[in-house]
Amino acid sequence: MMNICVIGTGYVGLVSGVCFSDIGNNVTCVDIDENKIENLKKGIIPIYEPGLDELVLKNIEENRLHFTTELQTAMNDAEVVIIAVGTPPKETGEADLRFVEAVARSIGKNLTDYKVIVTKSTVPVGTGKWIKGIIAEEAGHSNFDVASNPEFLREGSAIYDTMNMERAVIGVESDKAKDVLSNLHEPFQTNLVIADIETAEMIKYAANAFLATKISFINEIANICELVGADVTKVAEGMGHDNRIGKAFLSAGIGYGGSCFPKDTNALINIAENAGYNLKIVKDVENVNAQQRYRVYDKLVEALNGDISGKRIAILGLAFKPNTDDMRAAPSIDIIPKLHSDGAEVLAYDPVAMKNAKKEIAGLQTVESYEQAVQDADAVIILTDWNEFKEMDLQDLKSKLRHPVMIDGRNMFPLEQMENLGFYYASIGRKTVKAAQI
Ligand code: UDX
Repeated sequence: MMNICVIGTGYVGLVSGVCFSDIGNNVTCVDIDENKIENLKKGIIPIYEPGLDELVLKNIEENRLHFTTELQTAMNDAEVVIIAVGTPPKETGEADLRFVEAVARSIGKNLTDYKVIVTKSTVPVGTGKWIKGIIAEEAGHSNFDVASNPEFLREGSAIYDTMNMERAVIGVESDKAKDVLSNLHEPFQTNLVIADIETAEMIKYAANAFLATKISFINEIANICELVGADVTKVAEGMGHDNRIGKAFLSAGIGYGGSCFPKDTNALINIAENAGYNLKIVKDVENVNAQQRYRVYDKLVEALNGDISGKRIAILGLAFKPNTDDMRAAPSIDIIPKLHSDGAEVLAYDPVAMKNAKKEIAGLQTVESYEQAVQDADAVIILTDWNEFKEMDLQDLKSKLRHPVMIDGRNMFPLEQMENLGFYYASIGRKTVKAAQI
């Protein structure tokens, strides 16, 4: 059992904090937002993440998880202090380290005895050393270690990902810090990758950029498949059986969004540029991704014979992926305004992201169910692969539509099924089913 202090109760901080407490540690989470902390003490969590509220409550009740705005108290008995504050992108694409710096200064001011200070926030290579300098300056001593322990959790399955982590990357400068962090990760029975701090920081960017590359790669293959009459889902299956390639992250669609891939690919390009290197592959990954989301728009225009003005379009799904209300870099943010500017009437439905979506998309009209969205629509576009949409009664959906046109940005349904149901069904990297003519 260890005493741990986690600074920042955003996605990464909150999930790591609660998971570390659930495996038996005594964890205190700190945030400067008093309102957030008061709510967290009652088990009210600021984000949508399946299972997180129950786990927070359980660990509060079992007295292993605490919330406070007082950094000094929280740091007192802690052996490990985890920095998990946001690193939002600046306009240049570089990570903004303002919050990390402020936290490092506060840690330095409150540092009385030896602690391992860990960065979990995704930070540019070199940040660990920079933080070390700041803390030493504020503390007036160097009786501490800094370390990097990047986070690989996915939104929507954050607890599962943390509890079943495939590896823990531990970037350290001393054996003492290595031992503390190795012990902390012991209960997860995972692969430990011990490295120096710069390498650990690089692993996070390289991993995310590689996953983004897989997505843009399969999306380009999908685009070729459409031109040559092949089926990208089969191509991906055929590729994925090769262990060197792997099955994961080969689902073609409208590209990646979210808080990590767009930010981290951009940051890596910047890191490379600052180091004097032109990172061509990742730049192309971004370009492909930026264009891919408009494929559903093009397919809609084609389905409705070139004119969508005055047409009613149902949008199913707004979040960048299922099981989250996160709208950051969601394809819907670009697609819906494009439909609006062409004079289409858009009615959207998402199981949880509608409130957030309204802040991002001007004039967004939403309804309370997918049935309401598709009623009398000229076409339906699927943007997020929520389970709720997978389970829709397609016969019933077809009867509600004015025209049986579905544009599926997530390849959710078998072509044969859509053919038998009599849809015009355009998806990504597969043949367009034209069982209905408009
Ligand atoms: C990602 C990483 O997976 C995680 O390790 C990292 O810590 C943070 O970034 P997240 O952004 O939560 O996690 O979502 P993820 O499930 O990885 O999906 C990212 C995006 O890629 C989504 O927009 C998703 O729709 C898209 N995607 C994913 C595809 O288009 N095709 C795929 O095959 C996989």
